[in-house]
Amino acid sequence: MRRVPVIAAVIVVAGLAARSALPETAVSPVVAERQASMKAMASAAKTISGIFDGKMAYDAVAFKEAAETIRRRSGSAMVDAFPAGSFGAPSAAKAEIEQSREEFAALALHLESLATALSDAADEAPNGITEAMRMKPGMAMGSSLLGKRAGGAAEADPSKMPAEHLFHLMLQDCTNCHAKFREKRQ
Ligand code: HEC
Repeated sequence: MRRVPVIAAVIVVAGLAARSALPETAVSPVVAERQASMKAMASAAKTISGIFDGKMAYDAVAFKEAAETIRRRSGSAMVDAFPAGSFGAPSAAKAEIEQSREEFAALALHLESLATALSDAADEAPNGITEAMRMKPGMAMGSSLLGKRAGGAAEADPSKMPAEHLFHLMLQDCTNCHAKFREKRQ
């Protein structure tokens, strides 16, 4: 029995050795919290995508909960998770956020408005994905936010968009923000 703690210690030391490849600076609670929040959104997005792909059984409660997870963690909650001085290693948040506050907030708020509409769609479809929720062939995939910036057509009302289309636009908000404001890792 005396061997057990030794093995445990070896595992702990091996874990520390693996960790030492990371930057030495400790992650602050603000950074740890927003990274956990982003991970929760990624997991929610995986659930929604699984439901649309048919890899997961449709469950209106799980669908709504996933949409709500993203809604609650986007918008002003997301903006507030990036206070001044919280950028740079070991966080992957770029200092550019400080210089482009408006653009950063616009992405977070746009994501929130789409997630709100998606959450509402779950209420309207208690039994399964309806035809109205499906994206129609040839539906524009371009980011409506960027289209608007570039002087494109005014954005369609999210509450009138098929849920699947809303979800694709949401993923574009994730990607667009990461492309500009998140340091590439690995
Ligand atoms: C307004 C900008 C913005 C939006 C929108 C956004 N993110 Fe992020 N995300 C970031 C930034 C900045 C970081 C880096 C945070 C850090 O390391 O401090 C990040 C980090 C992450 C991470 C890594 C977390 C970790 O453990 O280090 C994941 C996963 C992630 N985001 C998923 C998502 C998903 C999924 C969405 C869309 C549903 C999304 N994000 C929308 C800005 C955004």
